[in-house]
Amino acid sequence: MDIRFLGHACFELTEGDTRVLVDPFLTGNPKAAVEASEVDPTHILLTHGHGDHYGDIEAIAKRTGASVVAIVEIADELEEAGVENVADPNIGGTVKFDWGWVKLTPAWHTSTTPKGTQNTPAGLLIHIGGKLVYHLGDTALFSDLKLAAGRGDPIDVALMCIGGHYTMDRIDAVTAAEFVGAGTVIPCHYDTFPPVETDAEAFKADVESQTSSKVQVLQPGETFSA
Ligand code: NI
Ligand code: MN
Repeated sequence: MDIRFLGHACFELTEGDTRVLVDPFLTGNPKAAVEASEVDPTHILLTHGHGDHYGDIEAIAKRTGASVVAIVEIADELEEAGVENVADPNIGGTVKFDWGWVKLTPAWHTSTTPKGTQNTPAGLLIHIGGKLVYHLGDTALFSDLKLAAGRGDPIDVALMCIGGHYTMDRIDAVTAAEFVGAGTVIPCHYDTFPPVETDAEAFKADVESQTSSKVQVLQPGETFSA
C-alpha cells in the first residue's frame, strides 16, 4: 500500500486499483504536488470542512465519480452541490468498502461547511491493504487520541499535523505520537503558510528519541510504502 503526500494535509493511499484521496486541497495550495485535474481517485475522504481540506472535493468528485465519505452535515451539502455516491457517517461511525473501511474519530478543532454551517471535525481511521492508517485531521493534543491505538489492530501509519497555530505544534505532536503508537508517523499540515512553519526534522528527532515510532518526513510528491 502506497501513501503519497500531495501537500498540506492531502494524501493519496493506493492499493491495487483503489486510490483513496484524503483532504484534496490542491488549487491554491502553494505546496500542492499535483493539480486537481491530475488526480483520479476511486474514493475521497474528508476530515472537516475548512478550505485547506475541502479544497477541490466537489470538482474532483464530479469529474471522477469517486465515492465520498464526509461527516453528515458536509455530506448533505455535497449532495446538494450535485456530488453523487456520498456516505454520511458521524463521529464513531464506520463506512465499509470492498477494500476495507473508514471510521470517523474525534478531533479537537473547529469546522464550518463551505456554506458556513458549523459542524464537527474528525480524524479518519482507514483500513486499506491490510494496513491501518490514522489521519488525525486538524486537532489539538488530547488524551483520547490513545483510544484509536487501543482498539483492535495496531496503527501502522499516522498522518499527523505538526504545524501549530491552527493545530497542535510539533512539541505537542510528540506526545500525540506517543499516544497513537504508530509504527510510522508522517508529519503534515506544516510549512504551507507562514503561521504553520515548523522544523519537521526536529519533530523526527524528538519522536524517535522519546517514543517507539519512526518518522518519515515526505516532501510533497513523495511516496511511502507501508
Ligand atoms: Ni481546520
Ligand atoms: Mn487545516
